[in-house]
Amino acid sequence: MNRQVLIDSPYEVKAGMIFQTRKMTEFEKYFQIVLPGSEDLGHEPGQFVMISIPGVGEVPISVSSSPTQKGFFELVVRSAGMVTAALHRLEAGDTVGIRGPYGKGFPYRAMQGSDLLFIGGGCGNIPLRSLIHYALDCRSRYGKIHILVGCKSPEMMLFVDELSTWSERPDINLDQTVDQGGPGWKGKVGLITKLIPPLAIEPEKTFAVVVGPPIMYKFVIQELLKKNIPSGQIILSMERHMKCGVGKCGHCQIGPHYCCQDGPVFTYEEIRYNHEAI
Ligand SMILES: Cc1cc2nc3c(=O)[nH]c(=O)nc-3n(C[C@H](O)[C@H](O)[C@H](O)COP(=O)(O)OP(=O)(O)OC[C@H]3O[C@@H](n4cnc5c(N)ncnc54)[C@H](O)[C@@H]3O)c2cc1C
Ligand code: FES
Repeated sequence: MNRQVLIDSPYEVKAGMIFQTRKMTEFEKYFQIVLPGSEDLGHEPGQFVMISIPGVGEVPISVSSSPTQKGFFELVVRSAGMVTAALHRLEAGDTVGIRGPYGKGFPYRAMQGSDLLFIGGGCGNIPLRSLIHYALDCRSRYGKIHILVGCKSPEMMLFVDELSTWSERPDINLDQTVDQGGPGWKGKVGLITKLIPPLAIEPEKTFAVVVGPPIMYKFVIQELLKKNIPSGQIILSMERHMKCGVGKCGHCQIGPHYCCQDGPVFTYEEIRYNHEAI
């Protein structure tokens, strides 16, 4: 086959070398991946890659690092089933297949000049981190930054060191909560929705970016609407079962949308009338 056709193919699989790994929690593992020749992945915050292990399978995983980070990219994978458990068994020096980046990422250009309110629940903090890092690396392009983080228990909290660093920055307003506390946890206990009402925000100039488990969206959106944030400025990232990742198989449909191509990032305005989505 013509080499140019292969290079331009959306299905091209590249060999990604695992350069570093780190166990983050009982269920999540961090991977730093380098493409051949340290080529840039060329992603936007909010996009995902299809990551494959020959003979096992292929799964969509969000890129957790910012495109401002050159030479490698980062993934954080929760062990959920066959493919993700096999990924957890890999270590530095092993190779995985990488297709992508795919999907529509966060509208980080449209957000320039605005205040940002990040709301991340559990694994939702994995894709959100890419945009947070991007905004912090391009700090002067954005206004106030609020970060709300929630998860089930203190042991499930991701990126603990980064959260601690961000909590000390005067240009970030960070608040965290866990559904259930535990020994040593001195922070808040309760649902992430509780962190929204006390926020001092100017709704017209705020973009709220929400990523979390499906149950979280409905209640968080209700709170954001009470704060008068316009529905076109409420940004959501949706998860659906995916096979092809490129709009061919129909596995990821949300009403009229293909989550892999039209999303995974949508505005609430785009999907508010689709009751199956939220
Ligand atoms: C756009 C996108 C980005 C993602 N980003 C990440 C990420 O950064 N880190 C991460 O750990 N996971 C992420 N996921 C979820 C990940 O793709 C699934 O956990 C994985 O496909 C499970 O495959 P498996 O073979 O290990 O398990 P399977 O045996 O296929 O599934 C195990 C369990 O997970 C459920 N599941 C499988 N796929 C999905 C899905 N797409 N959405 C919700 N539940 C699912 C199954 O119903 C089953 O209950 C993402 C999914 C999508 C669609
Ligand atoms: S995963 Fe195949 S159409 Fe979206």
